[in-house]
Amino acid sequence: MAKPKVFATHQLFEEARQILNAACDVEYWANEERPPREEVLRHVKDKEGLVCLLTEKVNDELLRVAPKLRIAANVAVGYDNIDVATCTKRGVVATNTPGVLDETTADFAWTLMMAVARRLAEGEQLARSGNWKGWNLDQLCGADIWGKTLGLVGFGRIGRAVARRALGFQMKVIYTDAVKAPEEIAKSLNVEYRDMNTLLAESDFISLHVPLMPETRGLFDSPKFYRMKPTAFLINTSRGPVVEEAALVAALDAKKIAGAALDVYENEPFIHPGLKRPNVVLAPHLASASLETRTNMAVMAAKNVVALFTGQTPPNMLNPAVLNKF
Ligand code: DGY
Repeated sequence: MAKPKVFATHQLFEEARQILNAACDVEYWANEERPPREEVLRHVKDKEGLVCLLTEKVNDELLRVAPKLRIAANVAVGYDNIDVATCTKRGVVATNTPGVLDETTADFAWTLMMAVARRLAEGEQLARSGNWKGWNLDQLCGADIWGKTLGLVGFGRIGRAVARRALGFQMKVIYTDAVKAPEEIAKSLNVEYRDMNTLLAESDFISLHVPLMPETRGLFDSPKFYRMKPTAFLINTSRGPVVEEAALVAALDAKKIAGAALDVYENEPFIHPGLKRPNVVLAPHLASASLETRTNMAVMAAKNVVALFTGQTPPNMLNPAVLNKF
């Protein structure tokens, strides 16, 4: 029997390719540059499976040109690029990669927090410039992290992993979320719930860990920045559109907050020019980018595809209702 045809918008890692190739006839996008939209639409036309990155919109336009498609496997936990409702309507399984990137992403939220607080980017630039004149008492003095208050907006798996790391820094950790964490988790991580406005007022560092949804789009707007301490920093490893970049730039201009460290942007890969300033650390969407974790993410996506085509339920289905359609 012919193997199901799959298009992967990336070459993926060898471990994932092996899993996919064993069960599917896979066409991998071979260029280093991501495929232009028209190429994705052209390649997906006759395919039953799609493995895609978060940069690929799986929407009505794509689903209409791919009538045979049965699964869209996202190599990411965030799936705001996938129109899940339309997938369900069209009988297409949508999957993501939850869990495998929590610790790596939490590591990176901390990387950003430490970098912006301790002015690492400025220091690195000085060290490389040839202009460093040696140690000086008031040189590039940043802010302490230990003993400060960390405010987590979103207290799911990644937020909790960030909180766990804070224990070693003797920080006070507070969080806000639509749903309060079970008491035993709050106790074991030594965190306390706050409503959003109280969290904004109390935190020295605010780290965002919410998915992008209608409720969180533009969540960090001008009034939020004006409620923060002028000495506080914003860290964003969630999704760019959770923060209104123009409002963030205005808050930085007005010194309403001390700085920011960002991994994600409103219109990636565009970065608002007003963010390119010394007290803002900028990373190009790297939070899950350890080789181990990115490999695990690709493997997970491959397993989701193979599960469907071998008659099993894909382990990370976003729309289980779709199975009733088969
Ligand atoms: C995700 O998985 O959603 C991240 O943004 C990329 O790792």
